[in-house]
Amino acid sequence: MRAIDRLRAAGRLEEGIALGPLTSYKLGGPARYLVRVGGEEDLREAYSMSAEEGLQIVALGRGSNVVVADDGFGGIVLRPGPALAHHRISDEGVVVAGSGVPLPLLARETARAGRGGLEFYTGIPGSVGGAVRMNAGCHGSETRDVLISARVFDGATATAGDRSPDDLDLSYRHSNLDDLEFVIEARFETFARPADEAEGTIREISRWRRKNQPGGTLNAGSVFKNPPGDSAGRIIDELGLKGMACGAVSVSERHGNFFVAADGATASDLHRLVGLVRARVLEETGMDLEPEVRFVGEFP
Ligand code: EPU
Repeated sequence: MRAIDRLRAAGRLEEGIALGPLTSYKLGGPARYLVRVGGEEDLREAYSMSAEEGLQIVALGRGSNVVVADDGFGGIVLRPGPALAHHRISDEGVVVAGSGVPLPLLARETARAGRGGLEFYTGIPGSVGGAVRMNAGCHGSETRDVLISARVFDGATATAGDRSPDDLDLSYRHSNLDDLEFVIEARFETFARPADEAEGTIREISRWRRKNQPGGTLNAGSVFKNPPGDSAGRIIDELGLKGMACGAVSVSERHGNFFVAADGATASDLHRLVGLVRARVLEETGMDLEPEVRFVGEFP
């Protein structure tokens, strides 16, 4: 029996699932296949299916850094299911969290328990798996600073193992994980901190975000990575590109590195705008900004 049939028979394979609602941009078409990962057995089967059927496979967390093509994605999407939404704090203050746990929730609950270190996650609307995959960070902290290890399933060998930040080669918005690897859970270090202090830091970060970023709009945070020593938002702003639009997607007036989607927007509009802004910045400054958002599926 092929893996696709086993997954189907076990009721683990969903077909034609709309991906837009699973991303912060709310754009794009359906996934041909989706597996809500409960554990290693699902992963073993999904990677076997990918190899046997010759289908691309991608991991999707909370979709806060992903743009899905209007025609959707013809492969397999792996998404942490309810079994990977657990988190707990040990007596020593080690936080163990499944890859599906939302970062802002982890920040709040850790702070409430009188532990510090993860407050910055309140400013990142992604998941634990996404944070490990891209070394997510903000406000001077990044995942590398707090991660003890991540349990990663390797689809190439069909085995899981623990990886340290060095094993993962975490650096600014980067890890060495690829599509054949899936983060199952992560362990974070925290320190004792009075809950009211930690919660105060969380409130400050939230205030800062409301003031500086276009909250309440459809976006995926920063579109481009920052070039060393500078800010993509500042560069885009200085070039007068705020308000520039393709269809119903435009460069935010509040922050040049946020592109916001209005009613009627398509993923292709967004993809075109990213290309246009990138080309203008290259032309005017010689700097080639690298996108931070990930495009999934086929774009024209
Ligand atoms: N700036 C402008 N005009 C703009 C935007 C920014 O002049 O339109 C200036 C700001 O005044 C500031 C500087 O550029 O002097 C940097 O801006 P900001 O503090 O907003 O930070 P950023 O470099 O744009 C980075 C991260 C954000 C993170 C913030 C806060 C990247 C690509 N972005 O933004 O991360 O929230 O710092 O720590 O590293 C994300 O990755 O999705 C993200 C939102």
